[in-house]
Amino acid sequence: MIQTIQTKPYTDQKMGTAGLRRKSKVVMQEHYIENFMQAIFDVIGNLKGKTYVLGGDGRFYNDIAIQKIIKMAAANGVTKLVIGQNGFLSTPASSNIILKNHLDGGFVLSASHNPGGENGDFGIKYANQSGGQCPSSVSDAIYQRTLTIKEFKICDTPDVDLSKLGHQELCGMEIEVIDPVTDYVDMMENIFDFAAIKKLFANGFTMCFDAMNAVTGPYAKRIFEDILGARQGSVVNATPLPDFGGLHPDPNLLYAKELVDLMFSDKSPNFGAANDGDGDRNMILGHKFFVTPSDSLAILTDNFDLIPAYKNGIFGVAKSAATSTAVSRVAKAHNIGYYEVPTGWKYFVNLMDSKRITFCGEESFGTGSSHIREKDGIWAVLFWLNIIAATGKSVEEITREHWKKYGRSYYMRFDFEGIDTVVADRLMADLENKLPHLNGKDYGSYHITEAAPFIYHDPVDNSDTKNGLIIKFADGSRIVYRLSGTGSSGATLRVYLEKYETANLSEDPLKILNDLLQIAMEIAEVSQRTGKQQADVIT
Ligand code: G1P
Ligand code: ZN
Repeated sequence: MIQTIQTKPYTDQKMGTAGLRRKSKVVMQEHYIENFMQAIFDVIGNLKGKTYVLGGDGRFYNDIAIQKIIKMAAANGVTKLVIGQNGFLSTPASSNIILKNHLDGGFVLSASHNPGGENGDFGIKYANQSGGQCPSSVSDAIYQRTLTIKEFKICDTPDVDLSKLGHQELCGMEIEVIDPVTDYVDMMENIFDFAAIKKLFANGFTMCFDAMNAVTGPYAKRIFEDILGARQGSVVNATPLPDFGGLHPDPNLLYAKELVDLMFSDKSPNFGAANDGDGDRNMILGHKFFVTPSDSLAILTDNFDLIPAYKNGIFGVAKSAATSTAVSRVAKAHNIGYYEVPTGWKYFVNLMDSKRITFCGEESFGTGSSHIREKDGIWAVLFWLNIIAATGKSVEEITREHWKKYGRSYYMRFDFEGIDTVVADRLMADLENKLPHLNGKDYGSYHITEAAPFIYHDPVDNSDTKNGLIIKFADGSRIVYRLSGTGSSGATLRVYLEKYETANLSEDPLKILNDLLQIAMEIAEVSQRTGKQQADVIT
């Protein structure tokens, strides 16, 4: 029943910041998934005795891709697959299953926060036994393999019924279909003070969690409504849909508009939060108040001792270079380790495994800890609820007190989307060549002290990674430029701006950052080269 099928290589199967992400129509091409999966299986090598977890965020093509992967895993000699019921698993839940059961890795079918549907995006993330996405050395080897692939193996059998919990067999491979939520809930109960949060809701505290019609709906309903006692209906857009009901499941001020409008209205609940398509991103809101992800990481880190699982101490904290430096001041105050890494969660994994850090985060609405090896949206929401329950303070009070104690890093990200890749690559290359000449230059009151590419030396595997260009100013302000690695077509230039203030704590960020924005546009000649006068997305 095992078939070996001839195929021709595709040349575009290189993984980006978070796995392989392409337009659904690209992935739907003949043998596209098959080639990519066979390349992974070939690079792993001997699959006998190996067990992997498999699931996705339920987006369009999830159901078809998952059946192909099951049949290919069996044909390639995988011993067992653990699969989320109906093919559903959030990214954090999948990482937990790998770690808890000491599995060899897993596959999450998701394009994360990108829109789904036939005209949207699809993706595959490959995690290894660390519970995190495979390192660049492995993804490079997989890409090389995709370029020479000539055949793939697949079992010629009917589709597997993924609605039925329990054990089945396919072509000699064991399949276990599990409830995707249970293990994840157990883990959260062991980290946070559920009793205190229950009391908070019992006393009338209200929240709105927007699951954006994606995978976190069932997790959020079980945790916030069924277990913690938030009133029924606190979780909205709770049913995962193949096209996310037309939503762009990216929890930010632009795409989570329904939630943002509610939270900025007079009748808002006390607390608002949203997660992305596969459940690893989070956005935190209070009544008429938004917490930037960079501040959120700093605030969570500063309050670690309020959480049962962390109260005896944390190792350290890490952030991506593009994230604001707010958390660095917290790390200094608590005298814990502090690391800056390239963009992409995989760079945190070695730091967690070697016990250098406990918490980490990115400006792109990602926060997490070493409980797993992926960022975790619901974890961040529970962390905030736990702080609120322990202090009795609102989101706004907690954040304002934090600024008073540490100062405020005004921070914004400007995305210039859909740029021709040749234009974008040239912009970055020319800018990099220009950097050495910028040192010591003045732009108005801004004095450049350092302009250089960001190069990360991993203290564990000694690899060096270059990611983005950073310009630092005398007053602590920073401009970071980098190209996105998660797009499915064209290039996106991201420009990240930060300015540190200790006195003006209640200004409009855009007002504070406007001069820096003009300087950033001028230095990189953004308008001349891209034809864009302003960013397409501001977060
Ligand atoms: C984006 C974010 C990055 C995040 C990644 C996956 O990558 O900027 O922080 O790790 O999505 O969620 P980018 O498109 O910038 O390469
Ligand atoms: Zn995601």
